[in-house]
Amino acid sequence: MTDPASVLTPHVQAAMAAAFGPEWREADPVIRPANKKQTSADLQVNAAMAAAKKVGRPPREVAAAIVEHLDAAELVASAEIAGPGFLNITLQDDWVAASATDLLRSDRLVPLPDADERQRVVVDYSSPNAAKEMHVGHLRTTVVGDALARTLEGIGHEVIRQNHLGDWGTPFGMLAEHLLEVGEDSDEAHLLETDPNTFYRNARATFTATEKSSDPDSFAARARRRVALLQGGDAESLRLWHGIIELTKGYLRRVYDELDITLTDDDIAGESMYNDELPGICDALQEKGIAVISEGALCVFLDGYTGREGKPIPLIVRKSDGGYGYATTDIATLRHSSLELKADRALYVVGAPQNLHFRMCWETTDKAGWVKGTVPTHVQIGNMLGADGKLLRTRSGDLVTLQSVVDSALERAATVVAESRPDLDEETRATISHQVGIGALKYADLSISHDSEYTFDLDRMLSLTGNTGPYLQYATARIRSILRRADAVVTDGPITLTEPAERALALRLLDYGTVVTSVGESLEPHRLCAYLFDVAQTFTTFYEHCPVLKAEDAAVKDSRLALCALTLRTLVEGLSLLGIQSPDQM
Ligand code: ARG
Repeated sequence: MTDPASVLTPHVQAAMAAAFGPEWREADPVIRPANKKQTSADLQVNAAMAAAKKVGRPPREVAAAIVEHLDAAELVASAEIAGPGFLNITLQDDWVAASATDLLRSDRLVPLPDADERQRVVVDYSSPNAAKEMHVGHLRTTVVGDALARTLEGIGHEVIRQNHLGDWGTPFGMLAEHLLEVGEDSDEAHLLETDPNTFYRNARATFTATEKSSDPDSFAARARRRVALLQGGDAESLRLWHGIIELTKGYLRRVYDELDITLTDDDIAGESMYNDELPGICDALQEKGIAVISEGALCVFLDGYTGREGKPIPLIVRKSDGGYGYATTDIATLRHSSLELKADRALYVVGAPQNLHFRMCWETTDKAGWVKGTVPTHVQIGNMLGADGKLLRTRSGDLVTLQSVVDSALERAATVVAESRPDLDEETRATISHQVGIGALKYADLSISHDSEYTFDLDRMLSLTGNTGPYLQYATARIRSILRRADAVVTDGPITLTEPAERALALRLLDYGTVVTSVGESLEPHRLCAYLFDVAQTFTTFYEHCPVLKAEDAAVKDSRLALCALTLRTLVEGLSLLGIQSPDQM
């Protein structure tokens, strides 16, 4: 890593080992950013306070011993003992400049992990239901999941995307029968690609209208028979079901394409994929004594899971009618990720209310011995709320669809861009407003911690000021424009530092790799957002204080252009890890 704390760490450890003995080689030196209100130093080392008791000397003495043994002249300009015994470290300007230059010239901003630290990570995200339109809840799981997948890949991990499509269950009898009735290539059938809810509603309406009929050939009767045929593997029924799934894939491609989401057809790992495994899973759970029959259903009761009045909560793996549910499938997904895919981590980017479901499924899977070296994590997604603080719903009470949210963001972005750039031709403006609208929507989702609720606010998310997508996109466009005007063919430094604002920017840019890597561990994209926002603001201060194109001295101008180039690269790469494009101009 290029950030100063990471570079300083082994030096402090070596000093502690030299002063207090070899057992201090691996100690955490507790390095933090210095408190800018109290000191002009860059970093604060708190190791002395933590070590004092063990060493048996007062903290300030311990700090003095560390300084005495610190061998880092190239890195550290001064180390001053302050307060109860922490060390204020000021870094050498030359080190900051040289490190920034190295970073600019290296082909990766995030160093590749060592081979043994490279992980295989399954990311289950988006995961809508076939023949149903995606709603706002799916927007957030899709956007956060995609950002995590891109970030983990950007770090150098191997990512296996899984779109756990809800593509099985009793409604498919009714849907298959409706498809047959309207014609497999009819306009109604193609609604599955453009307006799946209407197709679903029409099927449901026909079913309800005939539900009470005693005619054995009524729609409802045929739909019921179709369920049984499908479950029994009847070829014609499976063909119809397949038709529904193919049309659904068309719908998903359209949505993902519009949103610039990296999921493809190949990533679909729907519920149906696990059908054949479900009976075996239930048998094994029963044999192992993990599942028992209760009121006709096969259930798992786990310690510590109780509901009202202390009643144990069952995890139903086989219903009393013999059908399998969502839980059985999720036991299968984790087993598959672990035993087949040999994943180090399995991330489920799914709404927070499903947490109990996942914890019970995982514990069951683990008890059965089907989790080998895989750590499952539920990346909990909080709800998106309307201005009234309630779930975003339409007047008829349904959750707002994903498409209507996307459309309103795109519409607003078009207005913003038409106002700010009336000089551009329509086509260019359309490209930019698409990038800005989608960028704004995604950034609004990502910049707030994924498990907290957030209020959908078009004005805020499309604002050109504040911690928003458009603000960051604008920052990249502005730097691009500076570089264009400079006619600089190569901007590879060296970076030299004369002004404090240059130094502050260079230092902040050195943190990028560490921030991205930590997001790969904590799975918190909002930390990357906060960092990029800070970089953009630090850049603004730099640009206000340091003339770039008008710099008198040629070497200073080159250095400042190089700082611009490194800032641009950092912002563009950071945004792309979040799934956000950077327009050429804005
Ligand atoms: N299809 C589900 C829904 O729309 C989400 C599935 C999430 N993934 C999983 N492995 N359970 O709520």
